[in-house]
Amino acid sequence: MDTSLARLSHAGPAPHETFSHGLTAGLAKTPKEIACKYFYDEAGSHLFERICGLPEYYQTHTEMALLYRHAAEIAQLIGDDVEIVEFGAGSLRKVRILLDAVANIRAYTPLDISGDYLTDVVQILAANYPALLLRPLIADFTGPLDMVPLPGNPRRIGFFPGSTIGNFKPAAAIALLGRMRASLEGGGLLIGVDLAKDPARLHAAYNDSAGVTAQFNKNLLVRANRELGANFDPNAFAHYAPYNPTEHRIEMYLVSLKRQSITICGKHFDFAADEPVHTEDSHKYTIESFREMATHAGFNPRAAWTDQERLFSMHWLEAR
Ligand SMILES: C[S@@+](CC[C@H](N)C(=O)[O-])C[C@H]1O[C@@H](n2cnc3c(N)ncnc32)[C@H](O)[C@@H]1O
Repeated sequence: MDTSLARLSHAGPAPHETFSHGLTAGLAKTPKEIACKYFYDEAGSHLFERICGLPEYYQTHTEMALLYRHAAEIAQLIGDDVEIVEFGAGSLRKVRILLDAVANIRAYTPLDISGDYLTDVVQILAANYPALLLRPLIADFTGPLDMVPLPGNPRRIGFFPGSTIGNFKPAAAIALLGRMRASLEGGGLLIGVDLAKDPARLHAAYNDSAGVTAQFNKNLLVRANRELGANFDPNAFAHYAPYNPTEHRIEMYLVSLKRQSITICGKHFDFAADEPVHTEDSHKYTIESFREMATHAGFNPRAAWTDQERLFSMHWLEAR
């Protein structure tokens, strides 16, 4: 099969079931938290795309520029007759640079938790790349990473851009990279990693002047109202995203602006005035600290690329 969109596969339980369970479990904890994977329903994915276009959000255009600049070298490292698996694929914008540069891609498997959005963007990619075998997979990459092998077992190459790895604390990031490595069965991983830098620059990127990141953060509450019949007033919570220089990470919170009680799926949750709900971490690395982490996950780090300002990095890791 060389020209087709394989049937969209879905791994695991329905998204609203996992959301209701994950949300209520996180809000029952002290301190309260909501896992950042729940940002991404269809509205959340569109909001993330708007973030990528913001002037303060240097990550996306810097990573795209790195991919364009080093496309020929990256293509050589990837080789040909490969399957590309993209973890947390989002808009599928960045992979086009690889699809244009790499010879003889047997299949492209974009994997994302945001099912409706993935369905839409895959249709657009299929129209633009009619000869490409697409195997979209709606799945949570923190769960099992079983993928159906292609006939002839072409080399499997992982693509994990956007510094999504930064959303995991270092030990969890090593565990996730280790599971990704196992799923690649000896192939390689091309991964984008945001770098530690001037805290003011980082702060601006997560506290944009247009308020899109705040809207993205509050989409968790809007989503809970829409999908689970919760009664959040998004205006009764504030977006708060400070940089923690000790842990080298942006931390994102929704802070309750008053004492309030919220009902979700018949369960009641009390919020004190000024109580924070942790919604995301975004860890920042040096090139060296990330390579060390990848080594712990069973990769041999090879090439690494960065821009002149050392804002962002791309790494080519070979699975041991
Ligand atoms: C920071 S965005 C990056 C999007 C895209 N890769 C890019 O570089 O622009 C994170 C992406 O990963 C997806 N995602 C987040 N957590 C996930 C999970 N646990 N399993 C699968 N996809 C996830 C989101 O839906 C979103 O598309």
